[in-house]
Amino acid sequence: MDAAPFHLEITTDAPAAFHAPSCSGSLDLRLGDCMEGMKTFPDGHFDLAIVDPPYGIGMGGGLDIAPVGNVIQKNGKSLAVKTVRYAKKQWDTTPPPPEYFAELRRVSRNQIVWGANHFIDRMQVASPCWIVWDKVNVGTDQSDCELAWTSLKTAVRKFDFMWSGMCQGSLANGRVMEGNKAKNEKRIHPTQKPVQLYKWLLANYAKPGHRVLDTHLGSGSIAIAAHYAGIHLTAYEIDADYFHAAKARIARETSQAELFSPQNNKLADTGL
Ligand SMILES: C[S@@+](CC[C@H](N)C(=O)[O-])C[C@H]1O[C@@H](n2cnc3c(N)ncnc32)[C@H](O)[C@@H]1O
Repeated sequence: MDAAPFHLEITTDAPAAFHAPSCSGSLDLRLGDCMEGMKTFPDGHFDLAIVDPPYGIGMGGGLDIAPVGNVIQKNGKSLAVKTVRYAKKQWDTTPPPPEYFAELRRVSRNQIVWGANHFIDRMQVASPCWIVWDKVNVGTDQSDCELAWTSLKTAVRKFDFMWSGMCQGSLANGRVMEGNKAKNEKRIHPTQKPVQLYKWLLANYAKPGHRVLDTHLGSGSIAIAAHYAGIHLTAYEIDADYFHAAKARIARETSQAELFSPQNNKLADTGL
């Protein structure tokens, strides 16, 4: 694991796609089972798959509102962090079966797979390029980092962005807490990943115009990032509550109601 600190500097040397809204991409969001969805694509259709499947650790919601620890704020004071209650669902009981990973490798030329440390037996080949997301979680009992296996041949990379209850990183520096809670990303899903993480992934591992697949959309964070990066995103979500909440969030946060034109809605709501 890379021990050197990495600071998110989105206002300096990040690629233009990182900042500039672009409408050259497209979002194709589908309510349905990704296993069925992937069958409809030819070999190598996607330039990249960025996926966050169930890890099989029971995180499908239903957590109590309870203190999980403390983080140290910019002013040096300690702040209690609480978990949030989400409707209890059963999707996080097991990781996807081996057939899912075979199909993922068939339809995409490269893959980034979050949580693969929980199901390493499914990955088949060693990777020189794991991605480490440091959640800057010091002081809580939540995991400090999340890990993604990749099929890429580059080095291990680390992204720092605080993500601990209401304590979230600031856009200028992911290690520093956003002081204004009103600017925090709204959380609508029990395992939501930050939009900033997906922006970083797309800026570093995809190019505008690329076709990207997410088999497990969840809250839709990747779609918001993809919109601003000019990516053609295809994504699946099997749970109707999550899917409709994600669609509403994406429309709100991209101010692009036209993304859900009658044609797109038809595609999305009728599933496959
Ligand atoms: C780990 S969460 C994804 C979280 C997402 N990365 C985010 O930032 O919000 C996994 C999601 O996959 C969905 N899911 C589970 N099995 C699925 C399947 N076979 N096809 C599509 N979605 C599925 C679950 O309902 C859940 O919302």
